[in-house]
Amino acid sequence: MSKPLVLVTRRIPSSALTRLEAACDVELYDRGDLPHDELLKRIVGKQGLVSVVTDAIDRAVLDAGTDLRVISTIAVGYNNIDVPAARERGVVVTNTPDVLTESTADLTWALILGITRRIVEGDRLVRRGQWKGFTLDFMLGSDLRGKQLGIVGLGRIGKAVAARAPAFGMRLAYTGRSAQSGVAGEFMPLDRLLSTSDVVSLHCPLTPETKHLINQTTLMRMKRSAYLISAARGPIVDEAALVWALENRILAGAALDVYEREPEIQKGLLSLENVVLSPHLGSSAIETRTTMIQLAVQNVVAVLSGEPPLTPIA
Ligand code: GLV
Repeated sequence: MSKPLVLVTRRIPSSALTRLEAACDVELYDRGDLPHDELLKRIVGKQGLVSVVTDAIDRAVLDAGTDLRVISTIAVGYNNIDVPAARERGVVVTNTPDVLTESTADLTWALILGITRRIVEGDRLVRRGQWKGFTLDFMLGSDLRGKQLGIVGLGRIGKAVAARAPAFGMRLAYTGRSAQSGVAGEFMPLDRLLSTSDVVSLHCPLTPETKHLINQTTLMRMKRSAYLISAARGPIVDEAALVWALENRILAGAALDVYEREPEIQKGLLSLENVVLSPHLGSSAIETRTTMIQLAVQNVVAVLSGEPPLTPIA
């Protein structure tokens, strides 16, 4: 009996590839970003697809992939996949939740500390040879102790970020669809969270409702001393509005891991000192990435063997 055909859109570790190859015939695209027209060609005849956040799995891909039974994204977010179109065609969609939660929460705190204590700005200054030595009032940042952390979207990652707040002496506020029981923080509407928080961290998924949730109007609600952090999805923030707000000192700074048009960065952001820009590193720790890839492979193999996937999208 012939094995099912699976397209893998990126190079994956050999241990994961071996596991996949034991159950499937694998076509691996290992030349970096897979162009969309190439994806449309390569999906023909494949029963499985292992993909990443930058692959646009739209209706055209699903129309071309008439044999497709499972799409397994190596990510927790799946805004790049047309899930209703997949459902209409009976294609199972799986992601890799949980295994990246702690890693992404750690990265979020790296951003919070990096921007509030001006670490990246300081690094740039040192490299330019402009450090003149210790002085009492040099490059003063802001303490976190006693301040409010406002989480937008208290899902798995939002909760893990919140869980680290007491270690830094921060009190917690959060907003989302509804209040959650057993959370040691105050649930409040977005407007109030924005106007009372010292650090606002975004952890909601990208949906039509959350696109440009942070815009000129909402940025103007923030404290002038506050910081905006995002390790969620770029389009949640209107980057042009963010540049305007930072240039006009509407807020103190921003630390971003994700962007509206990755890998393009809104030009104005590049020239601002009070901004930290990391290149979509949320889950990029070796242990976490390895586990994510293994889970994505397990999901494909399960579905193509007629078993339920470990982590279908909710
Ligand atoms: C990465 O951005 C992810 O959604 O896992």
